[in-house]
Amino acid sequence: MKISLIGFMGSGKTSTAAQLATRLSLPQLEMDDTILERTGCTDMKSLFSKGGEILLREQEITLAHELATKEDIIISTGGGVVMNKIIIDYLKQKTGIVIYLKVSFEAIRNRLHSDTSPRPLFENLDEAQQLYSLREPLYEAYADYIVDCDGKVIADITQEIVSYIKSREQNLSENTDMPDSR
Ligand code: S3P
Repeated sequence: MKISLIGFMGSGKTSTAAQLATRLSLPQLEMDDTILERTGCTDMKSLFSKGGEILLREQEITLAHELATKEDIIISTGGGVVMNKIIIDYLKQKTGIVIYLKVSFEAIRNRLHSDTSPRPLFENLDEAQQLYSLREPLYEAYADYIVDCDGKVIADITQEIVSYIKSREQNLSENTDMPDSR
């Protein structure tokens, strides 16, 4: 089983992926961390200084391509993966499931206010809000399942995802077991 979490910066992808990985006994991969390691950068600010946003997007495409053939993994994506549909296609390969952690811009703004990780695309609030409006329909369109996260703690969000996965597996097995009626 390959599950990828998508959503805007500060939507809780990393924390939820960690809990999900524990619940499902699967390894977790953080795309941002892998990319920072590969590019020899300590954080996103230095990556953007080194090669601009384009370096990040190229690295995301390469990594997602590698992950296309992977199974049994929980992937925490960077908020911008929806800007290149090919990334979503790779993540969905081999029955990969994409889950959107939907959080209002207001909640994200409050969360990131006290978060110290450098986020070059969240330095100007108006620009970040525009980015949110641009991406929101993409997250919705690409998701196999959407979790409305406002007002929920990570444990509840994780539980909702686990329940969805279980019911999805049950439906799949029922459909496979069903005799062909034609
Ligand atoms: C980005 C999101 C960040 C990181 C980079 C760009 C974006 O990841 O990949 O700063 O374009 O939304 P998080 O969503 O984990 O903050």
